[in-house]
Amino acid sequence: MNLQELAHHVAAEFQKHYGRAPRWIVAAPGRVNVIGEHTDYNDGFVLPMAIERYAIMAADVAAAPGKISVYDTQFKQSALIEVTAPVSKGSPKWSNFIRGVLAGFQNRGVTLPALDVAFLSTVPLGGGLSSSAALEVCTATLIEAATGKAIDPIEKALLAQKAEHDFAGVPCGIMDQFISALGREGHLLLLDCRTRKTELVPMSDPSVALLVINTNVKHELGSGEYAKRRAECEEAAKILGVKSLRDATPDQLEKAKGKLSEVVYRRARHVIGEIERTTHAAEGIRASNWPTVGVLMYASHAALRDDYEVSCKELDVVVDIAESIGLAGGVYGCRMTGGGFGGCCVALVKADAVDAITQKIAADYKAKTGIDAAIFASRPAAGATIIKG
Ligand code: GLA
Repeated sequence: MNLQELAHHVAAEFQKHYGRAPRWIVAAPGRVNVIGEHTDYNDGFVLPMAIERYAIMAADVAAAPGKISVYDTQFKQSALIEVTAPVSKGSPKWSNFIRGVLAGFQNRGVTLPALDVAFLSTVPLGGGLSSSAALEVCTATLIEAATGKAIDPIEKALLAQKAEHDFAGVPCGIMDQFISALGREGHLLLLDCRTRKTELVPMSDPSVALLVINTNVKHELGSGEYAKRRAECEEAAKILGVKSLRDATPDQLEKAKGKLSEVVYRRARHVIGEIERTTHAAEGIRASNWPTVGVLMYASHAALRDDYEVSCKELDVVVDIAESIGLAGGVYGCRMTGGGFGGCCVALVKADAVDAITQKIAADYKAKTGIDAAIFASRPAAGATIIKG
């Protein structure tokens, strides 16, 4: 379903559940990160794009005061959130992403309106495509629509990130919420996570496409390991005597090698190299130099697999298959994307080979793992939008 069809669908679901038409419809996309992995919390660069997969909400003022009722149209489950007192954590679990954002608005002094909401998400859950950031940014966009007060998109992204920290317990960086809030159709977003300066990098060459390959493996380990990686990076920066790994050079790291544990050394090597790869990839994209971008993507994967150790067997299988198809078969590059430990790969491919590549990856992946992959192509999509209201 495209965004307009989704909007119709969720409006119909709202009508069915609440017996009237919605007044507002808002959406926020998931993302795929082309390159720049585990660099955001090291003050580095990231290069994600919003994808044509969305969290979408239809809403109206509620008849009863003091509560926001959120109906999940997919799992037929509701959350009832009291908004007259400070919003706190609660159940169901998914409602915490919403609750965290509502609390963020309260902290800004916003009096929350009572709302009836129906929501749907087409961002695969636990697939490393930022389903949680999409839900958070969608919620923030709904509150903007319902209060009639837009907030600065950067502040909105930071508010959503804080919700993830405080209400979901994941000490994530700023990439996912930024791209969901600030994405632009036809563009990647080069984000300097230190200065928060953004640059839109056009990606409209019709001869290439980005394929998202979902391994359909969810690794529950994710968040604990994520926090561990963050701590290891901080340790490396401290030993190197820099504020963050953004400030360290490969040379500096080699000179300090003896002072770091072998593991911490490898973590730092990934991050320092990945920050460099990301700015190079942005140059490659600006110049439509696809083979160079592809090489950088493979190098990123190898470092995430060997040095950062956030890949898994299934992600490696996908990248191996992509590499075996190679440039001759239309694949420029491929890598795991997102936090890791499962989830998705992203591949840069020739547009006219998308069907053949999709079939080949699906068949070989199934043969090697016994699992059905879900594969789709996405153009760079727009960030959060108010569709109605
Ligand atoms: C998760 C986090 C992001 C980022 C990536 C890894 O998606 O939410 O902030 O750190 O992992 O690049």
